[in-house]
Amino acid sequence: MVIGQALQDAINKQINAELYSSYIYLSMSAYFESLGLPGFANWMRCQAQEEVLHAMKFYHHLCERDGRVVVAAIDGPATDWESPLDAFETAYAHEQKVTAMISALVDLAEQEKDRAANNFLQWFVGEQVEEEASAKAVVDKLNLIKDAPAGLFMVDAELAQRVFVAPPPGGEAGA
Ligand SMILES: [Fe+2]
Ligand SMILES: [Fe+2]
Repeated sequence: MVIGQALQDAINKQINAELYSSYIYLSMSAYFESLGLPGFANWMRCQAQEEVLHAMKFYHHLCERDGRVVVAAIDGPATDWESPLDAFETAYAHEQKVTAMISALVDLAEQEKDRAANNFLQWFVGEQVEEEASAKAVVDKLNLIKDAPAGLFMVDAELAQRVFVAPPPGGEAGA
């Protein structure tokens, strides 16, 4: 079933939003590198890679549905934050915004009675629960330790464990 114009336009916007998300997290990764917190930087780099994957899922859906992917300029994200907590609060707020965007896409798919798009979008509905929860978990930890360096290094060691798992060739599942 060929995708309708309204959903096609909205998904093209979402591709740009996912790539912008990737850019924000890459910028946050660089910020954490500059602070000497390689674990935080690693976590953000993994997240940046995941966001590219999200964009590619939308890309493939449009292609499979005989739509046309149109890429646009990506806005420049901020480059500095006041503290690790400020960066993670920004990331958490950003994911809440993305959740609202995904919800609006589901609303549009329902309005257009596009069940294929709706089914496809459900993966993102679940993914956004994970995205918000994982950012919020770090916000909570940073709030608990305040600015105690020992606590910061412990969280840094924990976030160093995150590994980005690339999808199998041809599949953009997971993430
Ligand atoms: Fe995303
Ligand atoms: Fe995720």
